[in-house]
Amino acid sequence: MKRSKQTGKHKRDPRVPVLGEPDSNNDVSDGVENVEHDGSMSPKKKNIPRSQKKKIAREQRMANKVFHRKEKKLERKKRIKEVCDKTKVNDAEWVSKRDRKKAIQAGLKVALESGQRICIDCSLQQCQSKKEISKLASQIGRVYGTNIAAVKRAFDLHTSASNHDVNDKTLNKEFHSVSQAFHVYLTGLSKGSVLYDECVRKNDGFENYFLDISELGHADIFPQRDLVILTPDSPNELLTVDPDKVYVIGGLIDETVQKNVTLDAAHTTRLQTARLPIDTYMTRGESGTYVKILTVNQVFGILLTYKETLSWSIAFETWIPKRTGLILKTEVSNTTK
Ligand SMILES: C[S@@+](CC[C@H](N)C(=O)[O-])C[C@H]1O[C@@H](n2cnc3c(N)ncnc32)[C@H](O)[C@@H]1O
Repeated sequence: MKRSKQTGKHKRDPRVPVLGEPDSNNDVSDGVENVEHDGSMSPKKKNIPRSQKKKIAREQRMANKVFHRKEKKLERKKRIKEVCDKTKVNDAEWVSKRDRKKAIQAGLKVALESGQRICIDCSLQQCQSKKEISKLASQIGRVYGTNIAAVKRAFDLHTSASNHDVNDKTLNKEFHSVSQAFHVYLTGLSKGSVLYDECVRKNDGFENYFLDISELGHADIFPQRDLVILTPDSPNELLTVDPDKVYVIGGLIDETVQKNVTLDAAHTTRLQTARLPIDTYMTRGESGTYVKILTVNQVFGILLTYKETLSWSIAFETWIPKRTGLILKTEVSNTTK
């Protein structure tokens, strides 16, 4: 067998004798004539039977494997410690990737059971082109990603702020109570529809997402008094996010703006409507589109950020694109001071 040279990468357990090398503790050397001409000790292998040589080689390989495994473990621990030191996280607070993933999944399940309810109305596809439907499918994927991010934020904030042992079972419950992730409903969406198929095509694992999908419309699922239809055309401004209300975002992509679609639908079903309080918090900057009609995922993000921070300013600054040219009124008053 060709033996690799002993480099730094392939270190050998120094305690493990190499076949043919002198070892006072090993009876391999028994019967080996190991005095060289110059008087130094040198391996002589010819007296060892082949079967025994093989056995010893196997044992050496095994011992080296164990040694390397231990070495790697130590290196890993060292690296983790370095990361923890850098980010000022105590060893006790460090959570393995696997545990974090499990906790995030649990957090999403809790959101599905007890998070604030929000609907994306997917029943409006008759006025959407194939391209718009495809874009909506991508936005639904982003909505889901934003919800996951909220669970992760809650988990990370909680684990770094608390001095809990990560194995403490109460940890999970406590982090769930600070998570603001929504219980997301996709209403008016049937399996086999163009939108459903696009969702599956565009979003990996869509069929296992932690969200509720219903063929029924929001008005068939929730009491009328709980529903608030969000529409940029509403005369009412949303003041706060009421945890007992179910907010409905219209599943529409306005490639060409279709005004009043959700407002008219809400009026026919006599539901409350509201628009985001953009006018109260924002004003026109130097240039931009000044469009206040936002996408499904931006509206979802705004509601989530508002719930986390209780600040419309932070929510708008985070989610309203710079290209709109809309800037916070506080920014204007700060620069004119
Ligand atoms: C691209 S918009 C579609 C606007 C569409 N013309 C309509 O009639 O609702 C997608 C959805 O996001 C929500 N939305 C967008 N901008 C909004 C705003 N400024 N205030 C409240 N909801 C908004 C609405 O639910 C809307 O149906």
